[in-house]
Amino acid sequence: MRTETDSVSATVTVLKHQLNVDSFVREPAKLLQMNEVGVCNIMTQRPIVFDAYKENRSTGNFIIVDRVSSATVGAGMIDFPLRRADNVHWQALDVDKAARSALKNQKPAVLWLTGLSGSGKSTIANALEALLHTCGKHTYLLDGDNVRHGLNRDLGFTAVDRVENIRRVAEVAKLMADAGLIVICSFISPFRDERRMARELMGEGEFIEIFVDTPLDECARRDPKGLYKKAFAGNIANFTGVSSPYEAPENPELHLKTMGQEPARLALQIEEFLRSRMEEK
Ligand code: ADX
Repeated sequence: MRTETDSVSATVTVLKHQLNVDSFVREPAKLLQMNEVGVCNIMTQRPIVFDAYKENRSTGNFIIVDRVSSATVGAGMIDFPLRRADNVHWQALDVDKAARSALKNQKPAVLWLTGLSGSGKSTIANALEALLHTCGKHTYLLDGDNVRHGLNRDLGFTAVDRVENIRRVAEVAKLMADAGLIVICSFISPFRDERRMARELMGEGEFIEIFVDTPLDECARRDPKGLYKKAFAGNIANFTGVSSPYEAPENPELHLKTMGQEPARLALQIEEFLRSRMEEK
């Protein structure tokens, strides 16, 4: 079948009727002889672009060419697309998580970095994303400070708000994993229960808890945002490690002791873990 834009294998699936060109009466028919006119359904091997003939004569007409002899054996006008064809098309594709990640040649994962403010989560997360990107992986980085400017800007740092912060982020990470991505989450996430909740939301083996372990003294010494200074002076309420608890992970998949370690080296350690997991299946 040739149209203005496409050339595609096609089959007449149903010949509905023949039209008597003198009387316009519909007559039953099993096939159409030379110069006969009829109405039929046509199935194309792949989707084509077209308009209804009554709307656009150039993009609404077609010819049928014999594949062997290349002779034109018929011509026609397109009336409308069959919804049925659409339905079959969608079922056949059925794009799911497995299909999305197969296309990306990766296993979706949620890499969950937890640790005190100033422990190095964001720095490691950044280095890790850059590394994965270079390896051709499809990633996204969700970071506490950034998410709190948008989606979670209505939330503060009370225990209740932190729980809600993690709940929302975990739901977003789940959607992103469903899209086939490797999601890096960088949140203090100080409570064990919330991290467990996040883990349980994800598919089997998908949640990888990474404890970015830096002693409080060292975080306070680095104090990259000047927040510990303010917290120790009593100017920030509910500050993690100072006036709000941090519950360290008991069984993280990875325990990174950051003292004396380069962030790039730690990122590599996570990437290696991910690679070994990819090779498992
Ligand atoms: S979480 O505890 O709810 O997981 P999240 O990771 O989103 O925290 O945000 C932490 C960031 O918010 C810190 O890196 C810091 O920059 C900032 N912040 C502001 N106030 C506080 C606070 N009271 N406790 C901890 N971090 C705070």
